Amino acid sequence: MTHQIAIESVLREKRLFEPDPAFARRANVPGQAAYRRLRKEAETDYQRYWARLAKEHVDWFTPWKKVLDWKPPFAKWFVGAKTNISYNCLDRHLEGPNAWRRNKAAIIWEGEPGDQRVLTFGDLHREVCKCANVLKGLGVKKGDRVAIYMPMVPELAVAMLACTRIGAVHSIIFGGFSADSIRDRVNDAKAKLVITADGGWRRGQIIPLKDTIDEALQGADSVKHVLVVQRTGQSILMKNGRDQWWHDQMKTASSDCPPAKLDAEHPLFILYTSGTTGKPKGILHTTGGYLVHTTVTAKYIFDLKEEDTYWCTADIGWVTGHSYVIYGILSNGVTSVMYEGAPNHPDVDRFWEIVDKYNVTILYTAPTAIRTFMKWGDKHVRKHSLASLRLLGTVGEPINPEAWIWYHRTLGKKRCPIVDTWWQTETGGILITPLPGCVTTTPGSATLPFPGIFADILDEQGKPVGTNQGGYLVITRPWPGMLRGIYGDRKRYKEQYWSKYKGIYLTGDGARKDKNGYFWIMGRVDDVMNVAGHRLSTMEIESALVSHPEVVEAAVVGRPDEIKGTAIVGFVTLEQGNEPSDALRQTLRQHVAKEIGAIARPDEIRFTESLPKTRSGKIMRRLLRDIAAGRGSVGDTTTLEDYSILAKLREAEEA
Ligand code: WTA
Repeated sequence: MTHQIAIESVLREKRLFEPDPAFARRANVPGQAAYRRLRKEAETDYQRYWARLAKEHVDWFTPWKKVLDWKPPFAKWFVGAKTNISYNCLDRHLEGPNAWRRNKAAIIWEGEPGDQRVLTFGDLHREVCKCANVLKGLGVKKGDRVAIYMPMVPELAVAMLACTRIGAVHSIIFGGFSADSIRDRVNDAKAKLVITADGGWRRGQIIPLKDTIDEALQGADSVKHVLVVQRTGQSILMKNGRDQWWHDQMKTASSDCPPAKLDAEHPLFILYTSGTTGKPKGILHTTGGYLVHTTVTAKYIFDLKEEDTYWCTADIGWVTGHSYVIYGILSNGVTSVMYEGAPNHPDVDRFWEIVDKYNVTILYTAPTAIRTFMKWGDKHVRKHSLASLRLLGTVGEPINPEAWIWYHRTLGKKRCPIVDTWWQTETGGILITPLPGCVTTTPGSATLPFPGIFADILDEQGKPVGTNQGGYLVITRPWPGMLRGIYGDRKRYKEQYWSKYKGIYLTGDGARKDKNGYFWIMGRVDDVMNVAGHRLSTMEIESALVSHPEVVEAAVVGRPDEIKGTAIVGFVTLEQGNEPSDALRQTLRQHVAKEIGAIARPDEIRFTESLPKTRSGKIMRRLLRDIAAGRGSVGDTTTLEDYSILAKLREAEEA
C-alpha cells in the first residue's frame, strides 16, 4: 500500500552524496577506513566491541562479570555491573578532567511565549538532587513507578533524571493524550506518583494538563500524590493531601542526594506504544545497556563535539525525546536545546529563529515536519542565516526523496550531511543509519546498520530475501538498548517480537536491501500506522469509534498523505436507526480525540452499510486501503464475502 508507493519512488532514486572529506577528517569516526575498522571489530566479536565502548563511554561503580547473558528472547547486558544514569548525565561532568563543564549549558530552553532558561550542568545537578529528595519525601522508593505528564519544560528533564537518580521507573505520557489514555497507562504501571504541570503552551493556547490529570485519576487508585509544576498560572484544583506544588516542595528540599548504585538491569523506564491490538504496550527499558547504546550512538551518529549546540525537536513524551533530547546527549556532556511549543507560533519561522538565536549546530527532526516546512515555503527559511548548522538528522518514518533534497539544499545549504536514522521505541536507540563522514548517502535510505547491530530482511519462511526484494526487517543479534519486555506481559513480548522467527527480533517493518546492501524501509507490515511520525494502532482507533453508542462496527486504515505521511480514514457502520450526517462525522472524529488524544483524530470518516470481510470474518483492510486512497484497481477479491459491498463503499466515496 503506502509501502508500494514508497518502493516505486525510491527505486528511481539514484542520487548519491559522498561524505565531505573536510567533515570526515574531524568526525568522531573519521572516514571510511575508520568506519570499516569499527564494523570489522563488531563483526569479529560483537560482545567485546560493545564492552569496549561501554568501558570508554560510560562510568560504572562496579564492572560487569559478563557482557551478555542471552537466553532468547531474554537478554541481560553488563551482568553484575552497577551504574547510575543521572550520575553519567550530570555528576561526571562536575568532577575530574571535565569539572569545567559545571558552568556549561546542559539545557537551553525556550518557552513558546518567548521566555528562556539556561540550566548549566551544575544547575541541573542541583535541581535533580533536590527533586530526587522530594520524590523520596513523597514516598517514592527504588523500583516504584512515576507517571509524568508534562509540557516541554526543564522540570520534565529534572523529573526524569531525579527518577533515575533513586532508581524509580518513569513512565512519561505524551502531553497530547486524553484522560482515558492516561488512566490506562497509570493503572497498567500502577504508578505511585504523577508529576504534571498546571498547563503548557501550544499555539498561544493553554493545554490544561492538570485538569486532564484530575479526570484521569478518577479510577486510578495506585496514585498517592500528584506533584504539580506551575507553568501557565491559570487556576486549577489542588486536591488536599494528594496534590503538592513542585515549587513548595523544592524550596525546602536538600540538594544532597548521592546517586543510587543500580544494577545494569535495573528498570529505567516504561514507555507505552501502539501495538497490533487495542491495548498499548508498556515497553520496558533498563539501565546499563540503554545508557551505553544511547551514549555511543549519539556520539557517533550526531558526531557530538564539546562545542556543539544540539537540538532535537521531538517531544520528550516520545522515545526520541527520551534517548536523544535527554539521555544520550547529556551523558556526552553536550548542550541540548529544548523548545516548548509549536513550530508556527507566533510565525512559521519559529524553528529557524531558534536555530539562529542559539547557533544550533545539529538539528534532528521528523520528515513530517520537513514536509510541512516545504509547504510553508522557502522564503521563511531564507529570512534566517542558519550558518551554524553542520549536521541534520531525521527520524520517525521513511523520508521521501523530495523532502530529503529540500532538507539538504534549503536547510543544510548543501553543506550538512544528513543522517536518516531508523529505530523504534523498542530498540531504545538508533539501529540503522549512516555515520556522517563515513557512509555515502542516498535520499530515502537509512543506509546501513550501526556497527554492532545485525539486521536482515527475511521472507515468510525465514530465508533472507534477494536484492531489492521486500520482506520482514529483523534484527538477528541482541543489542544493548533492546527492550527487556512488555511491562507485566511476558507472553505478549514473546509473541509479538520473537515468535515469527526463533531468537530473531521482528521489527514489524517491511524493507528491502539494494545492491550495495543499503536498507530501504517500506513502512509497517502490521496493523500499526505511522501518522506524522507517530505510531498509532488501527485497532485502538477502531475500539474508540465502536465505543460511541451510534457505531456498530468500524475499520480504520491509513491513506497516503502529503504532509502527515499517512492520514487516518475510518469506515464506520452505524446502529440501526442512525443516519449518516456531517454532524455525526465531526462528533465521531471528536470522540476519538477525546478517547485517545488529538493525534488519533481521523482525518476522514466514511459511512458504510457493512465492511468487506473474508469468509472467516476478517476485515479486508487491503481493500479498504485502496478505496481510501482512491485507487482504481482493488486487487484480488476472491476471498471477499460480499462483493456488493465494494461497489457501495465506492459510492460512499463519491458522495
Ligand atoms: C518508523 C521512533 C523509516 C518505523 C524512533 C518504525 C522509520 C517506527 C524511521 C517506530 C526511518 C522510524 N525511516 N521509518 N528513519 N524511523 N520509523 O516507536 O516504521 O515511535 O517501526 O520510534 O517508525 O516508531 P516509534
